[in-house]
Amino acid sequence: MKKIVVFTGAGVSADSGLATFRDADGLWASYRIEDVCTPEALARNRELVIEFYNKRRKELLGVEPNAAHRAIAELEKYFDVEVVTQNVDNLHERAGSTRVTHLHGELMKLRSQRNPDLIVPIEGWEQGLDDRAEDGALLRPHIVFFGESVPMFDRACEIAASADVMIVVGTSLAVYPAAMLVRYARAGVPVYVVDPGEPDTSMIRNPLTHIKARAAEGMPQLAESLKGCKF
Ligand code: APR
Repeated sequence: MKKIVVFTGAGVSADSGLATFRDADGLWASYRIEDVCTPEALARNRELVIEFYNKRRKELLGVEPNAAHRAIAELEKYFDVEVVTQNVDNLHERAGSTRVTHLHGELMKLRSQRNPDLIVPIEGWEQGLDDRAEDGALLRPHIVFFGESVPMFDRACEIAASADVMIVVGTSLAVYPAAMLVRYARAGVPVYVVDPGEPDTSMIRNPLTHIKARAAEGMPQLAESLKGCKF
């Protein structure tokens, strides 16, 4: 069975109503990364960081997967599919995708500040400021902050290298190392980019098709055409 690797960013969830980061109405227009998304911010201003992720979690609980998430999940009926996402939401899983690798962590999990392997699910949206893990340490969002290493990156590169087709949906390809993933597609593997904007595709060396459409329109169309495709 042919393998499709789908690499997604905030744009795939935009049609569900979640803000992206770098668009004009994106999160980084309202917040400074150094205030809410670095280990130093967590140490300096725990309340603001926890509140930022509580808001994201509350929003997530109020939205549903869109047609793009569903089309990606449905591809599993026809292909061997793996999703690698930069998103911390769980909309791929809720749409039915069974193999999802989160590069930047997961909103619905917390972890011990002392032991990065002590990861626990969170019920509901609210992390209390003083909530503690079983080891007694304070909990923190299970999020990869700027300046932190990306533990799932090596695994994601292996996945990318196993693709027969790569689909990139809704990412500006501006954040590293995640954006490097497109370089791990084997030579000649077709890469489809679904994005209404102008992501930085300059490092894609493979045959490239840019479908300039919103995820909820472009992704179902692409999925439909791939189903009938011999590649
Ligand atoms: N459908 C598809 N793509 C869309 C849509 C839509 N409806 N709306 C916007 N986009 C595209 C934009 O054109 C842009 O290319 O989604 C992309 C969003 O880019 P970013 O906001 O930079 O999001 P992303 O690439 O996921 O960011 C990477 O940066 O701060 C972080 O850790 C965070 O994982 C995130 C990383």
